[in-house]
Amino acid sequence: GKVRAPTHIISTISDDRGEEPRYAGVPMSSIVEQGYGVGDVISLLWFKRSLPRYCTQFIEICIMLCADHGPCVSGAHNTIVTARAGKDLVSSLVSGLLTIGPRFGGAIDDAARYFKDAYDKGLSPYEFVESMKKKGIRVPGIGHRIKRGDNRDKRVELLQKFARTHFPSVKYMEYAVQVETYTLSKANNLVLNVDGAIGSLFLDLLAGSGMFTKQEIDEIVEIGYLNGLFVLARSIGLIGHTFDQKRLKQPLYRHPWEDVLYTK
Ligand code: ACO
Ligand code: LMR
Repeated sequence: GKVRAPTHIISTISDDRGEEPRYAGVPMSSIVEQGYGVGDVISLLWFKRSLPRYCTQFIEICIMLCADHGPCVSGAHNTIVTARAGKDLVSSLVSGLLTIGPRFGGAIDDAARYFKDAYDKGLSPYEFVESMKKKGIRVPGIGHRIKRGDNRDKRVELLQKFARTHFPSVKYMEYAVQVETYTLSKANNLVLNVDGAIGSLFLDLLAGSGMFTKQEIDEIVEIGYLNGLFVLARSIGLIGHTFDQKRLKQPLYRHPWEDVLYTK
């Protein structure tokens, strides 16, 4: 029989050995000729399958809505400071990306994990939020620095509207909304934020599309695919901020003394 030398790498998402590269088996010519979009390419390379149009459209909406949020947020600030220190595009980009994490943009996976666990266990929003408080863990996907109960995040509203129109079920999102109703009764800043909206809605996408087994959904949530959406999206804005600073020929940034409380 055939003897195969052991390999050092296993790869299952793409193949460049033939006449043209393939993403999850789909040749690049089909991607172009059949009018695939970025959402389709993400479906192929991340989920190894073609997803229905409403799913790929949802992915693209997430990317577009999270592409930027102005110069004052952590990521853009780091990128701007780095670009103004004369660093190159990649350094400026990664400097901004490195701020993405549990407080900023990188709470999507944990939001999905905690909302899924609480919903699947049948916890009421009260039981869920109070159990998190007892454990000393902030509810991922809840809270915002500038958004409030009376000044909601437009991105969250747009995502919810799309999903209510196109998704077969939005049970996880509705649960997240009930959690928000409870947290807003505690404090006005504890809104469902864009990370929480994407986390809960992606659970609905995974569960409602019929394209994933229960084990696959558990694996996606456990590995943590969803922060990737924010990382990918915000890279667009961070690259823009780098070009903007270079175009404006901005000098080295130095933070003003007046804005620092020097104390012992
Ligand atoms: N769950 C429970 N309580 C919270 C939460 C939360 N998610 N967020 C804030 N609180 C409470 C705090 O404990 C605090 O109460 P305390 O003073 O009695 O301790 C009060 O609300 C005010 O908290 P601040 O620290 O002033 O809130 P801040 O505006 O600094 O925090 C943040 C904003 C970081 C987003 C916070 O709400 C949080 O950690 N949320 C969870 C992580 C998350 O979802 N991040 C993504 C944000 S969206 C984005 O980055 C694109
Ligand atoms: C963002 O998307 O960067 C914002 O939601 C964060 C912020 O503090 O405004």
